[in-house]
Amino acid sequence: MFMNFWYAAEESENITNEPAKVHMLGQDFVLFRDTGGKVHCLSNLCVHRGASLAHGKVKGDNIECPYHGWQFKGKDGVCTKIPSLGPDAKIPSRAKVDSYPTEERYGLVFAFLGDLPESERPPIIDIPEWDQDGWRFTLMRYTWEANYQRALENSLDPAHTEFVHPAMGYQGDRDDYKVPDLEVTASEWGVGTMTIFQSPDLPHEKMKGIKGEGQMEAGTTMCGISQAVTKLHFSPVAWAHQYTFTTPVDEHHTARFFLQGRNFRTDPEMDAPVNERNLIVADQDKVVIERLEPFHTPESSTEEVLVKSDLVITRFRELLADWEARGWKIDSDSVDQFREHKAHSVPSPARRTVKSWAINAVPTCVPKQTTRVAAE
Ligand code: FES
Ligand SMILES: [Fe+2]
Repeated sequence: MFMNFWYAAEESENITNEPAKVHMLGQDFVLFRDTGGKVHCLSNLCVHRGASLAHGKVKGDNIECPYHGWQFKGKDGVCTKIPSLGPDAKIPSRAKVDSYPTEERYGLVFAFLGDLPESERPPIIDIPEWDQDGWRFTLMRYTWEANYQRALENSLDPAHTEFVHPAMGYQGDRDDYKVPDLEVTASEWGVGTMTIFQSPDLPHEKMKGIKGEGQMEAGTTMCGISQAVTKLHFSPVAWAHQYTFTTPVDEHHTARFFLQGRNFRTDPEMDAPVNERNLIVADQDKVVIERLEPFHTPESSTEEVLVKSDLVITRFRELLADWEARGWKIDSDSVDQFREHKAHSVPSPARRTVKSWAINAVPTCVPKQTTRVAAE
């Protein structure tokens, strides 16, 4: 899992002045809203003697630990009160927890889980349709028992659609089926492609006729490790743009916030059927992805047989290798090996300037020399 990206943590409406515990990147975080309405995200572990802050109380702009009542400021995680030392307490400089930058957009709370200064952070994806007339958005959430990289590679993969999604292909029944040559677009933070698919009309009773039998254009583009847009252009005018926010809960569970905008059938009564349909499609992926072996993407592509239609996946892996080389990949094996004896925290930006932290930052992977073979 990678630090130094924005991750969708929760829906905005679920974050109040009651603490909420969220597990991301294999660590616990506490989120709450302060008196001014600002959302804060802190490492959940109290540096005094390890209690769960999310089981404490929000006191104004601070969170109070349930064990001995120490209070930590939401804004910077610094301890402001140690009740057992009385009102004149001198607060030790190490009495602080990591506090992460947050942003609220598109009805979601995003937390920047990492230590990069603001000017170096990857962006939160732009959703130009969000404020445009003629678009309507729906949100659904789901969690897979799968590794995030397997899930992301599936999102990018244009060759699975024909076989995994009966409404988007013909299960290989057409003799002329072939993934067209892929044009992969690449930017600093992502890769992607748009492809022409042949597919039947949409099967849902209320969506019949939007597309008709025949070709449609579709494809997915990443923005950092945690965000992607899948564009489904059913016709030159009927479009669905699906913004997928992927948050690894841990190495074995992957949570998704799936925000879809559509510019057709925008009446609110269509929201439920649209989400129902999207969940069916997500579940078609889930049953395949949760059964992949090995559980993680192999470290070497010599242990797979990649072909031309996997091009976008090989390009995606190059980006991952680059982010790993920057020291952003969490060494989860080390974290898990000593978990019961040693706590870790994803480092926050303050660690770049303020020293003395009680809890060690998560170890990161030393990039390995891996063997990659070209697609055949
Ligand atoms: S463990 Fe949190 S105040 Fe003691
Ligand atoms: Fe799929």
